[in-house]
Amino acid sequence: MDRRDFLIGTALLTTSSAPAYDWDTVRREFRLDPKLVNLGLFYLASNPREVRAEVDRVKRVLDANSHDFPPDLSSRPRAALASYIGGAPNDIALVSNTTTGLGLVYQGLRLRADQEVLVNDQDHFWHQEAARLACDRVGARLRVGTLFASPATATPAEIASRLRDSLTPATRAVGITWVQSSTGLRMPVREVASVIAEANRDRAPADRCLLIVDGVHGLAAVDDSPASMGADVFVAGTHKWLFGPRGTGMVWVNPAVVSEIRQVLPGADRTTPTTYLSPGGFHAFEHTYAVHAAVAFHQRLGRSRVAARITELSTRFKDGLAGLRGITIHTPRDPAMSAGITCFDVDGVPGSRVVEHLAAQRIQITTAAYRIPYARVGTSVLNTPEEVDRAVRAVASVPR
Ligand SMILES: Cc1ncc(COP(=O)(O)O)c(C=O)c1O
Repeated sequence: MDRRDFLIGTALLTTSSAPAYDWDTVRREFRLDPKLVNLGLFYLASNPREVRAEVDRVKRVLDANSHDFPPDLSSRPRAALASYIGGAPNDIALVSNTTTGLGLVYQGLRLRADQEVLVNDQDHFWHQEAARLACDRVGARLRVGTLFASPATATPAEIASRLRDSLTPATRAVGITWVQSSTGLRMPVREVASVIAEANRDRAPADRCLLIVDGVHGLAAVDDSPASMGADVFVAGTHKWLFGPRGTGMVWVNPAVVSEIRQVLPGADRTTPTTYLSPGGFHAFEHTYAVHAAVAFHQRLGRSRVAARITELSTRFKDGLAGLRGITIHTPRDPAMSAGITCFDVDGVPGSRVVEHLAAQRIQITTAAYRIPYARVGTSVLNTPEEVDRAVRAVASVPR
């Protein structure tokens, strides 16, 4: 560690008690290309210095001795994630991404041919596919619906009411996305959970409806404790907003329902039925076993401060767009119904053309790879207000 590293490390460390850092200092922990404005950092995380250092450390341990793993190698990521999401380490399985986690959960769900699974049109394609494959295997019905008329104006009451009307005694699982990457809408997980709890009141365990949440764009972007939102299962990649090593993710299962999820892949960690869901075999262990460094980084920044900064930047972007002519914002303006993703349209211009126009100015944004490919901006704590303003000016200059 050179003197500069030490000074930056010290500046960050002091944040545990007081906000003695600034966001520029945080950004310097990452190896972002300074020539680019990356407004899609949620796509695949850049790693801060201490995550890279932990990956290197674990790699050195395994390179030196690949037979005798130190016992805390595997327990540290689960313990760290548990403390971050407000759950217990033994209720967490480690997986390599959100998709694998969703696949394991839906395939493992004890599901009968006379039952159905409900997911949303706005859930990620791989989420819908995970549910479809599980339904196909047993001949159950998959229903793909939508819980609001328009994402920009959706309310918790509307979503709860539509869900209440959609549930039937045969509904075995409801899949939702905490923060939709298709619309930027933040789903009101607690309200959804309470509608499902009401429906479950007189149901036997084999008929209970489980709430499965794809939380990848809420984890480390929203200030909440995923294990206490009322979900039965919470799945999230840790390689997006959390800045964890690529190819890492988690599944949290409410211990009260774990017997409803069978294991579908051979596991290695038999501590509990949930830890046993972690696929066995050899993995990119230097990544899996370095996730706790990303959690520690975020805990020092502070979950609420991170969420507040993300909201500040996404609100700034939405306010900027709202001042332009001919723009439709599909994400709610209300911070309680959104997080770091903003989806929008330049009226009459395909999302892909908006992406290209900004790319020519070295501003990286994406389209949502969904039925309606809106242009999409993600504001991370690594972005700056100036970058957001540049993006607004670039959107204003899109040829119509
Ligand atoms: C809502 C949502 N779920 C799941 C995924 C897939 O994530 P992963 O690459 O961790 O499997 C994505 C991809 O960005 C996503 O936007």
